[in-house]
Amino acid sequence: MINWNQTYDSGNDFRLITSAEINYILKYTQSYSKANTQCLDIGSGTGHLTRELWHRGFKPTGIDISESAIRLARQYTKLSGDEITYLVANLEKNEVNELIGKKFALITCKLVYAFIDNKQIFLENVSKLMNDRSIFAIITPLTDDVPPVKKHIAVDFDTTVLELRRYFNLLSSEKNNGQVIFICQLKS
Ligand SMILES: C[S@@+](CC[C@H](N)C(=O)[O-])C[C@H]1O[C@@H](n2cnc3c(N)ncnc32)[C@H](O)[C@@H]1O
Repeated sequence: MINWNQTYDSGNDFRLITSAEINYILKYTQSYSKANTQCLDIGSGTGHLTRELWHRGFKPTGIDISESAIRLARQYTKLSGDEITYLVANLEKNEVNELIGKKFALITCKLVYAFIDNKQIFLENVSKLMNDRSIFAIITPLTDDVPPVKKHIAVDFDTTVLELRRYFNLLSSEKNNGQVIFICQLKS
């Protein structure tokens, strides 16, 4: 199991989201007026995507299991806590108290899904944070496209589709450069 605090404390970080990726995801939220629309970035790390979502008009919450990640995300964010909220939280736990009853228009999860051990609890928790218009976007590398030493950071495409279909309708799955962006909505 990865020690995320140690990862961040030793200065590691992860590749930034590209404009093309974020534009692709936001195509699916165009019907929302962005002002004050709440979104959730799961496994937000040092908060790059979380802040990018603020720049695109959302009111984001970033959650991460790592205290070090959240400390750095707060440090890098020069905005008031009203604009962006960061919380230490584990979405594999049965309940995340701070999030109970909340519904987010957009939920993002970048380079996180491969590290989730209990995918069923995780996906069930995500589904509880959505309404019938919410979009859940997962960006993840695929095992077929990474070298053997990096298999642990990637997921199998077909297995993931099956896992997601248990809770969600899959609106699209765009493969590009060794990774995929899954776009999901709650199962109707
Ligand atoms: C590879 S990093 C990606 C961070 C960030 N999304 C990015 O792209 O820079 C994976 C992140 O997922 C977080 N994480 C792992 N399991 C988690 C869980 N169950 N709940 C919340 N965050 C989790 C880790 O602490 C870590 O910050």
